[in-house]
Amino acid sequence: MALVNEHFLKLPGSYLFSDIAKKVNSFKITHPKQDVIRLGIGDVTRPLPPACIEAMHKAVDEMADAKTFRGYGPEQGYDFLIEAILKNDFAPRGVHLSPAEIFINDGAKSDTGSIGELLRWDNSMAITDPVYPVYVDSNIMCGRAGVLEEGGTWSNVTYLPCTEENGFVPELPKHRVDLIYLCYPNNPTGTTLTHEQLKKWVDYALANDTLIVFDAAYEAYIHEDNVPHSIYEIRGAKKVAIEIRSFSKTAGFTGVRCGYTVVPKELTAATLEGERIPLNQLWNRRQCTKFNGTSYITQRAAEAIYTPEGKQQVKANIDYYMQNAATMRKSLEAAGLKVYGGVNAPYLWLKTPNGIGSWRFFEQMLYEANVVGTPGVGFGPSGEGFLRLTAFGTHEDCEEAMRRIRKWLA
Ligand code: MLT
Repeated sequence: MALVNEHFLKLPGSYLFSDIAKKVNSFKITHPKQDVIRLGIGDVTRPLPPACIEAMHKAVDEMADAKTFRGYGPEQGYDFLIEAILKNDFAPRGVHLSPAEIFINDGAKSDTGSIGELLRWDNSMAITDPVYPVYVDSNIMCGRAGVLEEGGTWSNVTYLPCTEENGFVPELPKHRVDLIYLCYPNNPTGTTLTHEQLKKWVDYALANDTLIVFDAAYEAYIHEDNVPHSIYEIRGAKKVAIEIRSFSKTAGFTGVRCGYTVVPKELTAATLEGERIPLNQLWNRRQCTKFNGTSYITQRAAEAIYTPEGKQQVKANIDYYMQNAATMRKSLEAAGLKVYGGVNAPYLWLKTPNGIGSWRFFEQMLYEANVVGTPGVGFGPSGEGFLRLTAFGTHEDCEEAMRRIRKWLA
C-alpha cells in the first residue's frame, strides 16, 4: 500500500486563485447575462512584445530544419539568454554574477515552490503577512509549516505582519529563523522596501545565518529611485540570498513561462555536523535531475526582451499597466477608499470600507458591481479587511470597473 504524504492533507481545500475562479464561475452560471470584469489574479492582458514574437517565429523555423534543430538544451538554460540577463539586469546595477549562478526556469512559481527542497524539512521559517500563497503552501507540503492553528496561522511559521500601522514594512523577526521569504515589490500589497530597509534584512540574515528567498517578480514595475531592483545590490547579499525573477509580469510571459533563479556560489547551508555546502551545487544537481530546461523557442523569446526594440516594447506594456494603476488609485480614492500600492507595482491594496471582512467585500463587489478582486485575507491573516486589485486589465476594463465601483459605493 502506498502511503500518502499526509502533509498534503493539511492544505486548504484549494489554491487561493482556483478558489476565486470557482466562485466567479458559479456567479456566471447563475447570472449569465452579467459581464464580469476580472481584476483578481495577476494575469496580463497585453500581447507579447513584437520582438519576442519575431524571435519565436525564427526559433520555430530553426526547429523545422535538421541543420538548426535543437533537442535537449542545457538544464541551466542557454548561454545566450544567461549572458543577456547578466549584461542587462545585473551589470548596470553593479552586480557581478557568473553565468553558472543563473538558472533559467519556467516562470518563478515552480522554483519558488521547489527551492525549499534544498533545506531540511525542520528548518524554521518566516514570511511577511499577507503573502503570496505559494511560499506557505509549498512549505505545508513538506511538513515545514507545522499544523494549522486557530486564526489560520501555521504553528512553525513566524508571521511578520505588514499593516497600515507599520506602513507595510515588516519588522525583523524577534528570534532567529533559518529561512525567510521576501517579495519586493510586494505581492499583494504593492509596496516596496527602500535600499536602507532591505539592507536591514540582509544584515539580519548575515548576523543570524539565515537564508532569504527573494522574489523579485515585479522588479520591472519599480519607478522610484532608492528602491533596489535586486537584493544583490545590498552588500553581502550573495552570502545569504537566492533571488527569483520572472518574465511573466515583465514581458507578458504568463502563458509562455520563463524566468530565472539566481543561486550565488558564495551561498551555503550547513549539515548537522556543521559542514558548509554550496547551495548552487545542490540546486544544479536538482535541476539536472528534475528539469530538462525551458524550451529553446521560449528562451529565444526571452532573449529578445533585451534587444533595443524589445526593451522599448516591454516598457510600453509596463507603462500601459502603470497608467491603469494610477487611474485606478485616483478613482478609488475619489470614492473614499484608502488605497496602497500601485506606484512601483501593478497591485492596489485597498482597505474595505467600514471594516467589512475581505471575503464579504469580495462577494458584494462581485454580485453588486460585477468586478472581481482578491480578498486580502486569502493572502494571510493580516490581509483581513483588505482587497487586492490588479492593474493588468485593459484600459477599458479598468475604467469601467472603476465606474462600477464608484457607483456601487456612492
Ligand atoms: C497573483 O495574482 O498573485 C499572481 O498572478 C500569481 C502568480 O504569479 O502565480
